[in-house]
Amino acid sequence: MNLVDKTEKTFALTTPLYYVNDLPHIGSAYTTIAADVVARFQRLLGRPVLLVTGTDEHGQKIQRTAESKGLPPQIFCDQMSSGFVSLWQLLNIRYDRFIRTTDPRHETLVREFFQRLWDNGDIYQGQQKGWYCVSCEEFKEERELLEGHYCPIHPNKEAEWRDEQNYFFRLSKYQTQIEALYQSQPDFVQPETRRNEVLSFIKQGLQDFSISRVNLEWGFPVPTDPSHTLYVWFDALLGYLTALLENNTEPNLENALEKWWPINLHLIGKDILRFHAISWPAMLMSSGLPLPERIFVHGFLTKDGLKMGKSLGNTVDPVALTTTYGADAVRYYFLKEIEFGRDGDFNEGRFIDVLNADLANDLGNLLNRTLGMVKKYCAGNVPPITSEDIPNDSALKSIGLCLGEQVKNAYEALAFDKACDAILKLVRASNKFIDEQAPWSLYKQGQQQATEKVLYSVLESVRLAAYLLSPVIPNISHNIYQQLGFEIDFNNQAQTSITAPFAIHGTWGVLTDKQKLGEPSPVFKRIEPSK
Ligand code: MSP
Repeated sequence: MNLVDKTEKTFALTTPLYYVNDLPHIGSAYTTIAADVVARFQRLLGRPVLLVTGTDEHGQKIQRTAESKGLPPQIFCDQMSSGFVSLWQLLNIRYDRFIRTTDPRHETLVREFFQRLWDNGDIYQGQQKGWYCVSCEEFKEERELLEGHYCPIHPNKEAEWRDEQNYFFRLSKYQTQIEALYQSQPDFVQPETRRNEVLSFIKQGLQDFSISRVNLEWGFPVPTDPSHTLYVWFDALLGYLTALLENNTEPNLENALEKWWPINLHLIGKDILRFHAISWPAMLMSSGLPLPERIFVHGFLTKDGLKMGKSLGNTVDPVALTTTYGADAVRYYFLKEIEFGRDGDFNEGRFIDVLNADLANDLGNLLNRTLGMVKKYCAGNVPPITSEDIPNDSALKSIGLCLGEQVKNAYEALAFDKACDAILKLVRASNKFIDEQAPWSLYKQGQQQATEKVLYSVLESVRLAAYLLSPVIPNISHNIYQQLGFEIDFNNQAQTSITAPFAIHGTWGVLTDKQKLGEPSPVFKRIEPSK
């Protein structure tokens, strides 16, 4: 196959393809927000980006749920899938592809991929005996299950005993190659804890796994034996490939691989690690395709310290949360409050405190009070100061000069909390700087240039903070930029990467007196906690 060399440094990333057995939950929103932030940041760097998300619509779990609602599975999937599309809109997610695994083009690609594995002698028929958790859509070892064969991830669901003819994928054949992969690419799975988990699993010896089901209608037939249906995970992972097809091209592997393959980053939750870190690379090895670059695994969200679940009745509805507080608030809380890669908690009190402290007080008030002072002391214009007029070791410039690089590294390492913390440090230093420098007394004493230097330094720092936070809180950043007189819309990424590239706007000292400042207005309204 003729793979196009990725000379132009493109960046393709994926969220998992979400099951449509239920409406999107906060966990699906969490990954998708993170993916959107990464994509937005990469676009600021000027890279062509493809953000892939979508829905995983086959399998027993979905067939059964559709049956229980009395709906044909396709109708049920159509309804549920649109719930994801509208949540992504509400959360201001700029995805490029939304793949549904029931897309007929997907079936064509799956057949071609299956054929490669088949031709390679990696698929054979055998007897599958074992405990199957329908909610995980996964066979479990007896030792992995709780007493009574309940699944530890779905403790109210009993795994079901299966003893049936299935087609198997020869995973065991790839033991050495998978080991070599982890040797040569220590960053293939991050963070380290998850990589270690994979390594110890590999050490136990990889076993072939079944890729077909009998007595299941909802899925693609096995190309070589239509009396079997392809296992939902087999077709789901291949959704990452189908998603890369351009709209009007013929659905085949060659076209799918043309521009965006290999994927640069898969974002996943910790429960679907093995599929992505072991089965997926082995399937790709068998098909002769290059492997993705990196898999980053995030933790699970809890509510008030408890595992979220329908049985506990403590789920967090992302639609309600976003409708109440707005997209930026939800995006900011989850990324700032939780170290990406670890488990994290949602608590409404904490949620309100963080937003009020960081966005309403520290950032919002800073802009507001500074613009107010600029109005009073500088006739409402950006002071005619340039970065050169301010010494490099001055309080704000010294932070601002290193911030862009620091935040870039943090975003690239998916350390969103660190990126936000570093930016907020500049914001807090700016508030402190105003208090200490007291431009109101400098002005009273007739020290116009000193007043202007202080106000310029602060305005410029707010600008830089808004720019660097724009992947996380695009609406607020847009609002701040407008008040600073820029016609740059962080929701129009193509325009932004040209008019405000990171190489320029990510540094300190961009603001000039050519900017016509806008009217000050609060960028984030303080949330009053309900009783
Ligand atoms: N359909 C599969 C993925 C196929 S990818 C080719 C799937 N779907 S899912 O809808 O069940 O899960 C999607 C993602 O949500 C997973 O990454 C999972 O880890 C994540 N989460 C599910 N519950 C979660 C929390 N409570 N917290 C954070 N993420 C959670 O698995």
